[in-house]
Amino acid sequence: MTGVPTVLLVSGSTRAGSTNTALIRTAAAIRPLETRVFDQLAALPAFNPDDDVEPLPAAVATLRAALDQADALLICTPEYAGALPGAFKNLLDWTVGGAEMPALPVGWINAAGVAAPTGGEGAHSELATVLGYVQARVVDEACRRVPLSRSQVGEDGLIDDPEVRAELDRAIDALLG
Ligand SMILES: Cc1cc2nc3c(=O)[nH]c(=O)nc-3n(C[C@H](O)[C@H](O)[C@H](O)COP(=O)(O)O)c2cc1C
Repeated sequence: MTGVPTVLLVSGSTRAGSTNTALIRTAAAIRPLETRVFDQLAALPAFNPDDDVEPLPAAVATLRAALDQADALLICTPEYAGALPGAFKNLLDWTVGGAEMPALPVGWINAAGVAAPTGGEGAHSELATVLGYVQARVVDEACRRVPLSRSQVGEDGLIDDPEVRAELDRAIDALLG
């Protein structure tokens, strides 16, 4: 690593009041010098191998550049219908043809609370499969369970709970360690 190491933060949810996105925003707020948020999930076009050529669609180029500049990746994603949200799987599909993922340290926060009947297990199992496929380096210490409820998201879109913030700190430390 050269200079200040950077963790790219990605939420797998496009929902405005998302607890997963709140976690990502909170991580950026507590570690502003070492994090960068990718916030163009909804702008990514549906993956098409025919479009995986230069010039890339703008949001794909932004994603690949952000991954290229990142020293690590932290993901917070909900589970939909027993699996990863389609929009987020689409993001991961766009990484397959790039050179950025192999050996990139990756962690994920499982924020599933009582509203998530399977506790996010299916999403995280799929995440492990896809990250293995793209040869990312999953950092076990940076994969943490932080159950959240919607009421924990403040009006500023952040999570104040010091325990939650401490878990985010630990995940980022593990990724950068
Ligand atoms: C369409 C839909 C399908 C869902 N399917 C599952 C599921 O299969 N398993 C699960 O644990 N939670 C499921 N959930 C619950 C969400 O994963 C859970 O509420 C999550 O914490 C929401 O994250 P968010 O606050 O970032 O939107 C589903 C929610 C929606 C809207």
